[in-house]
Amino acid sequence: MKIVRSIHELRDQLRGQNRTAFVPTMGNLHEGHFSLMRLASQHGDPVVASIFVNRLQFGPNEDFDKYPRTLQHDIEKLQEENVYVLFAPTERDLYPQPQEYRVDPPQDLGGILEGEFRPGFFQGVCTVVMKLMSCVQPRVAVFGKKDYQQLMIVRQMCNQFALPTEVVAAETVRDTDGLALSSRNRFLSAAERAEAPMLARTLNRVRGAVLAGNRDLASIEKEALDSLVQRGWKPDYVVVRRRSNLLLPDLAGTDVPLVVLAAARLGTTRLIDNLEI
Ligand code: PAF
Repeated sequence: MKIVRSIHELRDQLRGQNRTAFVPTMGNLHEGHFSLMRLASQHGDPVVASIFVNRLQFGPNEDFDKYPRTLQHDIEKLQEENVYVLFAPTERDLYPQPQEYRVDPPQDLGGILEGEFRPGFFQGVCTVVMKLMSCVQPRVAVFGKKDYQQLMIVRQMCNQFALPTEVVAAETVRDTDGLALSSRNRFLSAAERAEAPMLARTLNRVRGAVLAGNRDLASIEKEALDSLVQRGWKPDYVVVRRRSNLLLPDLAGTDVPLVVLAAARLGTTRLIDNLEI
């Protein structure tokens, strides 16, 4: 695996490649990320991974400084995967001047759910993904369903800008107790880690209720929120939405494909998860 820092070196390494499969990450790699790399290698060759903790997608009171940076360990783990190039730019490499041109997703998708609770987050994500894609020029890019809204926004961005990149979705990888793998799980105390699978269990309960024919989505969502609050969580949302656009299913009772999405804080750690219904 070649490790490159600058855009210039990256372009040298990828010259002449036209089937590149790309996996952008912020590092602190775990099984979830490796599953993205493996899926990438089924869709293209060579596989390029990036590690870059993107300041633009963190709000002023969020955990940019605290975000785990484990580059050496990540490199060792990546050597075991079928990754040809790791692009690990410094901030100066990727943003040599202040990044004044930004990509703003539309409000109806980018301003809801994560976008409501993390203003500016999707602008930061879209801007860095656009820039990384412009550096790597992949034919395929793999994003996890764990960040469901991010996946949809990036996919639509690629479509609307006619980027020659197909966005492939990877299933969420979970621990044996159901907790979705996330770099932020490492911030959980032992007691919080024991409680954390309750988020996935709550989503499963919501899914079960909808599948059983209950169409009173407001009551189902409220019950889910209340049960998390009772257990000490601070939920931002638990909502059932249309898979196609993340808007409210307008006619309870129609069988459009749905997804239940949740974000909640356990202690100081904010976890997100979702489940297709
Ligand atoms: O999902 C992530 O890790 C990040 O949002 C991404 C896509 C690498 C952009 O910084």
